[in-house]
Amino acid sequence: MTAAKNNFKILVTGGAGYIGSHAVLALKDAGWTPVVIDNLTTGFRWAVPDDVIFVEGDIEDSALVAQIIAQQNIGAIMHFAGSIIVPESVENPLKYYHNNTVKSRALIESAVNGGVKHFIFSSTAATYGVPEESPVREDTPTLPINPYGLSKLMTEYMLRDVAAAHDLTIVRCVISTWQARIHRRGPDNPPQEPPI
Ligand SMILES: NC(=O)c1ccc[n+]([C@@H]2O[C@H](COP(=O)([O-])OP(=O)(O)OC[C@H]3O[C@@H](n4cnc5c(N)ncnc54)[C@H](O)[C@@H]3O)[C@@H](O)[C@H]2O)c1
Repeated sequence: MTAAKNNFKILVTGGAGYIGSHAVLALKDAGWTPVVIDNLTTGFRWAVPDDVIFVEGDIEDSALVAQIIAQQNIGAIMHFAGSIIVPESVENPLKYYHNNTVKSRALIESAVNGGVKHFIFSSTAATYGVPEESPVREDTPTLPINPYGLSKLMTEYMLRDVAAAHDLTIVRCVISTWQARIHRRGPDNPPQEPPI
């Protein structure tokens, strides 16, 4: 993103969760202004700093998301909200296709309707299934082997198609957890090297 950092705010979905809350800290460190939406199903209100605007709500609530985008001058969305437990996704696939895929569709639509220009999606290595090469590359075939991975891959497909049809720039991230850990820091907790 090349816009001046104070020109717009960044909506962080799932910003009270593990990775989202660290993204909020990283954004603050980098001079951006994050705004969090989280329904607190697995997240924690305390994980969001007091000086960050926090909205308790669901990404599927299009009226609420539209209000946030307009009132907070949201120019980018970082999308972390979702369900992430692989065995649960096998036992209850519809929960995953709803929370990860259907609700992401609603969020993407809100982004397009609200004129948001940048969308960063926290995807997962589970989209690759059991890849034949390691480390995986950007063009490694995606062959998920569980509903969690497929529910995220379908969101990637939606974003690909929406980016081609609308003025929306997409970034797909496959995040590893050490990247999150190094941002939970303060004076007594300096940045650490990632584990091997
Ligand atoms: N943890 C990992 O190792 C890992 C690895 C790769 C990708 N990811 C992806 O990163 C994202 C975040 O993972 P995490 O480990 O921080 O999980 P998490 O459960 O700690 O965080 C998810 C957050 O989203 C919120 N949420 C869930 N559904 C919501 C909804 N419909 N509306 C609003 N808020 C909602 C939860 O309350 C929670 O705060 C997920 O999309 C996951 O697929 C995680």
